[in-house]
Amino acid sequence: MRIAISTGGGDAPGLNAVIRAAVLSAVNRGWEVLGIKRGYAGLMGEDEVVPLTAMSVRGIAHLGGTILRTTNRGDPFHYPRRRADGSLEELDRSDELMQRARDLGIDAVITIGGDGSLCIAQQLYERGLKIVGVPKTIDNDVSGTITTFGFDTAVSTAIEAIDKLHTTAESHDRVIVMEVMGRHAGFIALHSGVAGTADVILIPEIPYDIEKVCEKIRARDRAGRHFSIVVVAEGAFPVGGEESILGDSLPGQEKRVGGIADKVARQIQSRTGKECRSLVLGHLQRGGMPTGYDRLLATRFGGAAVRAIEEGKFGQMVALQSPHIVTIPFEMVLLEPKRVDPEHDVVLTARATGISFGD
Ligand code: F6P
Repeated sequence: MRIAISTGGGDAPGLNAVIRAAVLSAVNRGWEVLGIKRGYAGLMGEDEVVPLTAMSVRGIAHLGGTILRTTNRGDPFHYPRRRADGSLEELDRSDELMQRARDLGIDAVITIGGDGSLCIAQQLYERGLKIVGVPKTIDNDVSGTITTFGFDTAVSTAIEAIDKLHTTAESHDRVIVMEVMGRHAGFIALHSGVAGTADVILIPEIPYDIEKVCEKIRARDRAGRHFSIVVVAEGAFPVGGEESILGDSLPGQEKRVGGIADKVARQIQSRTGKECRSLVLGHLQRGGMPTGYDRLLATRFGGAAVRAIEEGKFGQMVALQSPHIVTIPFEMVLLEPKRVDPEHDVVLTARATGISFGD
């Protein structure tokens, strides 16, 4: 049995722990493992395919990033290529990928990725590739699993930042608006904002009214709390408005959302007269060591992916449905993306403890 592993899309803390667990689980069954470098680029002649042994995964479980590297511009069905005149075209290179997998004698593939990678996996599965998915993203926006690995680490990083912002905001009587990642989902903002005891949390699932945000800040002022912390998800937008987009993305890449914190801070300052500052936490949320929770979850996912291959559960993703790891068909996972439920108990508790969602 020869399996291959690929990591695609934005990296997330815990990728190396999945790789390690999958490699060891496979090697201990007597299987061979190949690592496809940089998404699927290794299968399309644009990077390497390397053997993965017990030695190659020694001492990596606690490391951030991915030893296989990754890309979010590597969809084999829409592979970007620059023409001689400089213009861009997208090519379907899936035939090439399938042929190379056959040439390498790959019996099954483990793809570790978010919604984009799982969508590619579903199409490759339909083309005949035996493939199993592992849900990865700091955004936690993959359906069918209670959580993705990487999310807990990102939330912990954001909480640490909120804790630090509290002391400086309070010293200066300032409003500090912190933007966190999550693309179109507000999980990182919600969880870090509640755990970090922010005063306002803005998420895409609950469009905000800036005047309501300012009311909350003024009310705190009247109560003698002259500083406020606003946590805003990068994909948040006002009622009747749209997500803030950060200019052009590279060919083959999704639109980049972001820049909302600065806009919100300017509006709060001009409406309340309070001094405001903003910051974008950015890729700090994707870097560094995975938390213990993410390391364990990633390890469980890696082991479960190999079991899924052994049991012939192709076209499926391993998922956490506590206390168990289960498998779910890609098509079920891809039916709809996971979003914050505005009636979820975390939102209700946030409201009950005085946090404003600007609505
Ligand atoms: O999907 C993970 C994520 O970190 C999002 O939260 C964010 O919008 C995006 O990726 C950033 O992508 P990039 O690394 O291309 O800037």
